[in-house]
Amino acid sequence: MFAHKHLLSIDDLSPEDIMTILKQARTFEEINERPIKKVPALRGKTVCNLFLEPSTRTRGSFELAEKRLSCDSLNAGGSTSSTVKGESLVDTVRTLDSMKVDMFIVRHKCAGAPYIVSQNTNAAVIDAGDGKHQHPTQALLDLYTIREHFGRIEGLRVGIVGDIGHSRVCGSLIPALKIMGAHVTVIAPPTLMPAAPEILGADEITSDLDAALPELDVVYMLRIQRERLEGAPYPSLREYNLLFGLTEEREKLMRPEAIVCHPGPVNRGVELDDYMCDHPQRSVILDQVYSGVLVRMAVLYLLLGGTDNGVDA
Ligand code: CP
Repeated sequence: MFAHKHLLSIDDLSPEDIMTILKQARTFEEINERPIKKVPALRGKTVCNLFLEPSTRTRGSFELAEKRLSCDSLNAGGSTSSTVKGESLVDTVRTLDSMKVDMFIVRHKCAGAPYIVSQNTNAAVIDAGDGKHQHPTQALLDLYTIREHFGRIEGLRVGIVGDIGHSRVCGSLIPALKIMGAHVTVIAPPTLMPAAPEILGADEITSDLDAALPELDVVYMLRIQRERLEGAPYPSLREYNLLFGLTEEREKLMRPEAIVCHPGPVNRGVELDDYMCDHPQRSVILDQVYSGVLVRMAVLYLLLGGTDNGVDA
């Protein structure tokens, strides 16, 4: 039903694979509404959360997903691991692998790090965000959120706005949306686009947010990745907000039913102002966070061969 060992790139998934994950995630909605949010589906499995770059949403939702499916978890990243003493990624993985881990979930600042992990373990590996490369579970939770909202993905017009060039979210989300039949427009200043933006695979590329907005069903705002910026791609954050920020004034250009997504964390007042970030009808940012738990439960369950998920699928 789900013939993959790892989740290293959204490009490895077929439309059927994606639908399997989204449907499996849906079955876990009910568990997350229970007073005791726990089923024995992955009892006996051990998952290592190897987060070597900061994370709140991804790490938190993977940890909760593991607990709700009754995995044993090992948190091995961060400032308390021996990586800060200079231990290499490969030695770290081989060390943890010796402890009989069934899965590594890897967040790393370098593109390709999860692949390197997969080459040095017999365990399954999930890419939880690597450099500017991929963030496949983010794309899956975005698909889940959009599909729950509109009842479909095919035919929707999605605009992805902002720091395209530094975005691993983009690296997974554009192919995911294309696989599922959406029309994708990327919108950014030329200085925040990749050198050859056509390799992104989007249907349209523009720097005119105001012209694009009235066409969009989903306005997906990206975080300005200040930690990855080089040079001065825009004169100031205020100028960026004026030209590419989603503001109360700009909302007037949006379709009445259009929604606003953001992977988080948000730079309030830069890519999104408070009014749009907290908009009760348009903003689905916290729905995305909730979807993250469901989708990560589904990915863990499918990759680790879960049984007895505690619900009728
Ligand atoms: N969207 C996302 O990956 O957020 P975190 O960095 O908080 O995990």
